[in-house]
Amino acid sequence: MGDIITVVSGKGGVGKSTVAASVARHLKQWAKRVLLVDTDGGICSAQLLVSGGESAIYHLGDLFAGVASVEETTVVIEGEPHFLAAPDRLFTPREWRELALLLLSLRERYDYIVVDRAAGLDFVLEQYLTDYTALVVSTPDPLSLRGAGQACHVLRQMGCENVRLVINRFLPAYVRQKIMPNIDSICDRVGAQLIGIVPEDLFVLQDLTKGKPTKEAPYNKALNRIAGRLAGNAIALPKLKKLLK
Ligand SMILES: Nc1ncnc2c1ncn2[C@@H]1O[C@H](COP(=O)(O)OP(=O)(O)OP(=O)(O)O)[C@@H](O)[C@H]1O
Ligand SMILES: [Mg+2]
Repeated sequence: MGDIITVVSGKGGVGKSTVAASVARHLKQWAKRVLLVDTDGGICSAQLLVSGGESAIYHLGDLFAGVASVEETTVVIEGEPHFLAAPDRLFTPREWRELALLLLSLRERYDYIVVDRAAGLDFVLEQYLTDYTALVVSTPDPLSLRGAGQACHVLRQMGCENVRLVINRFLPAYVRQKIMPNIDSICDRVGAQLIGIVPEDLFVLQDLTKGKPTKEAPYNKALNRIAGRLAGNAIALPKLKKLLK
C-alpha cells in the first residue's frame, strides 16, 4: 500500500507546488511508482512544474464526469512521476469525495502519491483520508508560521497523526536579524516536527523556465533530502550553524 502525502499550508504562496513537484520527482529514486496529483483547481500550478504537464489532455473533472478513464487522465512520461491534472475550476463537494476515494484506491498502484493542495484551512480532501502524511510548508516569517501553526492544529484535530514541517525560502539573514526564531521554538510554536529546510534559491525560478531542475542547486539538494526522509532513510537534519555559514 502506497503512502499519501498531502502538501498544505496556512498562508498561500509559500512554495507548496514547488515542494510537491520536486519531492515527487526525488521520490522516484527510491520508488518506481510515484504519482503527483494537482488539487489546486483553477490555479493548476503543479502542471507547470512537471515535464509533460502541458500534454495533459484530461483533468480530474473529466475523470469524475465519466469523460475519461483514470488511465486516459494520467500523464505518463518515462522516468517522471505520473501526473493527474486539476480542472480549471474549483472542485465540487462531490468531486472532493470522489477524489479521496480515487486516491485511496490508487494506493495499490503507487508507492507514493504526492498531492499538491491549495492554501488555507479548508481540508475538505483530508477529512476523507486516513493514514496520510501532511507536509505543512511555511516560509520563516511570522505570518506564514502562524498560518502553518493553524494548519497543523486543524489537521491534528481532524486526526492526522503524521504532520511534518518544511521551512521553505530560508534566508540566514532571517535568523541573524532575529526575524525568525530558532528552529526548536518554531517547531514548538507550529506544533510539528521539522522534516527539512529549503533555502531561498534563484535556481527555483530559473529551473521553472528551463523546465527541469538543476541537480546541484541548493534547493534541489534540500528537497532531495526531504524526499529521502519521507522514504524512511536516516538523513540527518542540517545544523543551524551550518545553514548560517
Ligand atoms: N526555495 C525557494 N527559493 C526561491 N523561490 C521560491 C522557493 N520556493 C518557491 N519559490 C517561488 O515562490 C513562488 C510561490 O511558489 P509556489 O507556487 O510553489 O507556492 P504555493 O504555496 O504553491 O502557492 P499557492 O498558495 O498559490 O498554491 C513561486 O514564484 C516560486 O518559484
Ligand atoms: Mg500552489
